[in-house]
Amino acid sequence: MPSAPLALSTCSDQTVCVIGAGYVGLTTAVGLAEDGRQVRLLEIDEARLQLLREGRAPIHEPGLDEVLTRVLRAGHLEVVQDITEGMAGAGIAITAVGTPPTVDGEADLRQVERALAQATEAAGEGAVVVIKSTVPPGTTARLAAGRRRGHGTPPLVMCPEFLREGTALEDLRRPARLVVGGDDRQACARVAELFSRGGTPTHITDSTSAELVKYGSNSFLALKISFINELAQLCEATGADIESVADGIGADPRIGRGFLNAGLGYGGSCFPKDVRALENVAAYHGPSFWMLQAAIDVNAQQRRRFVGKVASALGGAVEDSRIAVLGLAFKPGTDDMRQAASIDIIRYLADLGAVVTATDPVAIERATPLLPGIAMLADPYACVTGADAVVIVTEWAEFRGLDWDRVGRLASRRLVVDGRNCLDGRELARLGYTYVSVGRRSQTPD
Ligand code: UGA
Repeated sequence: MPSAPLALSTCSDQTVCVIGAGYVGLTTAVGLAEDGRQVRLLEIDEARLQLLREGRAPIHEPGLDEVLTRVLRAGHLEVVQDITEGMAGAGIAITAVGTPPTVDGEADLRQVERALAQATEAAGEGAVVVIKSTVPPGTTARLAAGRRRGHGTPPLVMCPEFLREGTALEDLRRPARLVVGGDDRQACARVAELFSRGGTPTHITDSTSAELVKYGSNSFLALKISFINELAQLCEATGADIESVADGIGADPRIGRGFLNAGLGYGGSCFPKDVRALENVAAYHGPSFWMLQAAIDVNAQQRRRFVGKVASALGGAVEDSRIAVLGLAFKPGTDDMRQAASIDIIRYLADLGAVVTATDPVAIERATPLLPGIAMLADPYACVTGADAVVIVTEWAEFRGLDWDRVGRLASRRLVVDGRNCLDGRELARLGYTYVSVGRRSQTPD
């Protein structure tokens, strides 16, 4: 039986408690508050809590600061430190804490277990507890079975998140699908109702299947990326063009064009972690999931291959060359540097004796401690000044919009190596550049 005095209060699904103001928790809380729910966001870190109460998000996510300020002012969102306060009257508690990989690549579940115990303890009668954190298959069922059962123990529901950094608020407003898993179908239906935005396709299943949907989705997308990157190698060897090949393959509705963009492979906090975690789960259960190791290897190779490409564009070696790296974040629209391709690429280049400068519209602050000794310049034109090669690592729209003639005048050579295939090579060739990209024919000055 819950022990807190507020535990027996009646609760309503109109009030939601989100535990953990990390990336998923914060965007979920803000999205639900924007949708008119009464949301309490629980955060224990004092500095983060203060920042949030001032309406400032600790992460860069388009639109987030504005909506955060709006929902705080409207009183739809409260940032709280105490679970009893957070759960008072809440019909739904969402645990959105981290599951960082252990040294073995397994998911560390300690934060989830703690959050779940807290929420269960403070839950009012009729409340549902949701696990939104990405957890290995079987976790929700195991945690549900491990709890003291009794009258008032809230049902446990698994509801994986599919938000993409950079477009998280949009993804919340227009989810492509919902997956909800658990034994208690009524509880699952309530959670589906919370996240549904008018006719969102919804799959209600058991919790272990829901967990596998999440790992399976991220791993499949990672496989698609590694597949297209391998195919890009073949394009370079045979003279084909990877964009045309991807368009042709992706036009088959059974395959789809999404995640067939060749480049520097996947980074971020999710794909690398989830592919490894799924591989670990498979290894634990006996059969190996060979394809996942291949995807991981191809992804790592892709970064090394790219450095080789830069070297050959510079005539065989990068030593003593000045290289301007445009883009540090793992993808555009975020300042997240976790598993960013830029880290490996810049380290390889620097180890080979290149003098590297780097720029990014938003990630310099987070990147600086990870890349000591690298000159970080907020102004891309300052970054390219004197460069022997300009290297694109993140496909920010800001870089497409640069005055490339001016870049050419500032750099010591008109050479672009585009790791994200995001620039118009023909246009650059017209401006006198040599343009090298991934899986496409190089362009030379007209
Ligand atoms: C990913 C999934 O797309 C979300 O659905 C999921 O909720 C999230 O992980 C998560 O598990 O939390 P995210 O990591 O934000 O979202 O980024 P993506 O847009 O999926 O891109 C991942 C990586 O793949 C990036 O480094 C991107 O540059 C790379 N990528 C993507 C490619 O190299 N090629 C592509 O065609 C697409």
